[in-house]
Amino acid sequence: MPIVELAENIYWVGVVDWDIRDFHGYETRRGTTYNAYLIVDDKTTLVDTVKYPFQSKLLANIQELANPEKIDYIVANHVEKDHSSSLPYIRQFARNATIVSTGRGKDGLTKYYGAEDWTFRTVKTGDELNLGNRTLQFVEAPMLHWPDSMFTYLKEDGILMPNDAFGQHYASSQRYDDEVDQGVLMDEAAKYYANILMPFASLITRKIEEVSGLAVEPKMIAPSHGVIWRSSPNKIVKSYLEWSEGKAQSKAVIVYDTMWGSTQKMAYAILDAIASKGIRVLLFHLRRSDVAEIVKEILDAKAVILGSPTLNNSMFPTISNFLTYITGLRPRGKVWTSFGSYGWGGGATRDINKRLKEARFEVLEPSLSIKYAPSLEELKKCEEFGQKIAETIG
Ligand code: FEO
Repeated sequence: MPIVELAENIYWVGVVDWDIRDFHGYETRRGTTYNAYLIVDDKTTLVDTVKYPFQSKLLANIQELANPEKIDYIVANHVEKDHSSSLPYIRQFARNATIVSTGRGKDGLTKYYGAEDWTFRTVKTGDELNLGNRTLQFVEAPMLHWPDSMFTYLKEDGILMPNDAFGQHYASSQRYDDEVDQGVLMDEAAKYYANILMPFASLITRKIEEVSGLAVEPKMIAPSHGVIWRSSPNKIVKSYLEWSEGKAQSKAVIVYDTMWGSTQKMAYAILDAIASKGIRVLLFHLRRSDVAEIVKEILDAKAVILGSPTLNNSMFPTISNFLTYITGLRPRGKVWTSFGSYGWGGGATRDINKRLKEARFEVLEPSLSIKYAPSLEELKKCEEFGQKIAETIG
């Protein structure tokens, strides 16, 4: 992809990863980008690097604009390897560069890359670095996404480089928000937030307030993944605030698995009952669905209903895996419940509810369990179960 100039002498020099479909378990159906930025000033500065298979492309991009030996600073906003793993390679050419990071960033880079001979400059919130015509201001952002993370703000140009925050796993030949399909963009931004940043919701609200207090008013937000927010940086900030507050719609999500179709029949009856009350409801067969997409839909739902047959006196393993993932993400402000079929002893709904309660989720009880296959009478019970959920969230 060609280099793009964001503002005078500030360039996107990143790469587009069109092919990736598995980002440590997150299904990236639209690929991603690893964004790096080069600031050509009295002090030439690279902000972040890219995932190591693309290191030669990053170097070639830099060489189009500057001699890498003349790079004075490399700002490492985050040590996770999608942003730092080509740093050792780039540093072979930028031997005089000082690495600018948080203290935890220095620790992480040293542990990953044995960077004992690297020159570091560690920074804290409010610290500034003058490059000549422009000034970098740093804001520590622990847990957005890792403890080492920080934001870099280009004061004179009003460009915020927040690394993972406000990103999207979205490969595109375009670099800006106003050049891509808005529905797809917000869909990918929500999916990214839900699957990566949702556990840190309260930190996000506080960080946005803190950044506003520092008189950081970005005209442009240039994250490390996806397109750059140039036309409406406030749009994504507002969405982050809403998602962080757990703002939900009149919406329910059913996630189920099934062995011989009984739990599936229950799922459809529950769905119909909820939908008949005018509530939007989505249904996902877990083994046939993209889990990252399910989590995106849970983000703004008021109810999540988990369906599982009983297998070996407990829930289906796929549902257990899903519970491990979703409880770790800690979605806020939802009602959870469960249903499923069993052959003899049962146990799936009991164990699902136990896991939900251990995660301190609000659980609507009783759950609904049906032996073997639902009869017509039992399908009525499924409808009543769905109606009760609808009344709870309606
Ligand atoms: Fe895109 Fe936390 O790395």
